[in-house]
Amino acid sequence: MLGFRALKTVTAAALLLGAGVVSASADATSSIQARQACMKANGAVMAVAVPIVKGEKPFDKAALDAAFAKEKEACAGWADWWGDDTKPGGATETWAKEEVWTDKAGFEAAGAAYGKAATAVAAAADEASFKAAFPALGASCQGCHEKFRRPKG
Ligand code: HEC
Repeated sequence: MLGFRALKTVTAAALLLGAGVVSASADATSSIQARQACMKANGAVMAVAVPIVKGEKPFDKAALDAAFAKEKEACAGWADWWGDDTKPGGATETWAKEEVWTDKAGFEAAGAAYGKAATAVAAAADEASFKAAFPALGASCQGCHEKFRRPKG
């Protein structure tokens, strides 16, 4: 976990997604629920960001900051939520794919790409820089989901 604490001092929360995959100490069910809650908080960021990108809502720095702050809180334990007991096929359903465990480097890289993109979006102080930074964030969600998450339903 060396370096993890240092990372926390960097602005976006999001960077934690790049912090690595380690064995779980929490039990499998709470780990799976926690990572899904983290992802729901990411969905909530998108719910604020997308209407701004589409021009349906004005740029709202306070609303974006609030959504990113919740994401940071919800995702703080990310690195601890991927123990072998949380793989697909266990007692608690997960939409994470086997590839999270068979391609750990790829999963970490996808998390790092997300962290970089989210940091830029969270730092954007005006509409123009927000809109310029946003596409990379959307692409990072999609990039990880394509490889590491099976679709729901
Ligand atoms: C590093 C990989 C990664 C990145 C980056 C990522 N996700 Fe996910 N996401 C996952 C995985 C894996 C799951 C499935 C988790 C599970 O079921 O255990 C998931 C699940 C979800 C879910 C469903 C949660 C639920 O209700 O169960 C949503 C919504 C979601 N992601 C949104 C996002 C958004 C929005 C972004 C970008 C802002 C994003 N994700 C970035 C890997 C990622």
